Amino acid sequence: MNVRIFPSAEAAEAATAALLIQQVQRNTNAVLGLATGGTMSPVYQLLVSAYQQGRVSFADITTFNLDEYSGLAPDHPRSYRSFMRAAFFDQTDIPLNNTHIPIGNTRDPDKEAERYEALIEASGGIDCQLLGIGQNGHIGFNEPGTPFHSRTRVEQLSNDTRAANQRYFPEGKVPEQAITIGIGTILDSREIILLAIGDKKANAVAVMIESPSDISCPASALQQHPNATILLDQAAAAQLQQLFDYEQVDKAN
Ligand code: F6R
Repeated sequence: MNVRIFPSAEAAEAATAALLIQQVQRNTNAVLGLATGGTMSPVYQLLVSAYQQGRVSFADITTFNLDEYSGLAPDHPRSYRSFMRAAFFDQTDIPLNNTHIPIGNTRDPDKEAERYEALIEASGGIDCQLLGIGQNGHIGFNEPGTPFHSRTRVEQLSNDTRAANQRYFPEGKVPEQAITIGIGTILDSREIILLAIGDKKANAVAVMIESPSDISCPASALQQHPNATILLDQAAAAQLQQLFDYEQVDKAN
């Protein structure tokens, strides 16, 4: 794991956006794995700005989001499809047909998960997977205890995750299940970028990086990946012990 610690959240977010932009500039047909959540909003704003300034085009990329809540139609205001349209897709030149997110309100969620996994494979796999991390160490919606070889499937959300995400559902309850790509699916990506911001993530970050890789912390599976970069602000890095092993970055680069 390549761990980079930035002086501020803004610097870590800018560096994350820069890695994604470089990826697309190098390979205009890149297949990107995308994440949702509060951590990602500033990153998408930076990608939209870069597009508006003519620094990058997303016209030929293909995207696969990590997950979607079960039961929510794509146009439901709290669906991850709606989040992605507002934050990124509708503000850039990416054709919506190139964007993939599991369908949350399908009649047969298991079949939908199988279809999604097969579609990722048919697209040649993910070149670069963007990840956040849950306070309980989840990646995608792979909760603690998920086997590292897991593939796309329906996952029961833990009480911890539903409580953490209640802030995104002010008018109702967080769905109990989601369709998520598996940890094995994530590990198949050629490159992985994980961004964590803030003191609420500090414990999960320390376990992910410094504890032995174990299913009790899904993100610790990334220790097994040959090309995983972890970008952190000071607050998210606060519980790390082996600081001499990590790159301290002065500015976004
Ligand atoms: C989102 C996802 C989740 C989030 C994680 C952190 O698609 O898969 O793993 O990355 O729950 O969410 P925030 O950024 O809201 O703290």
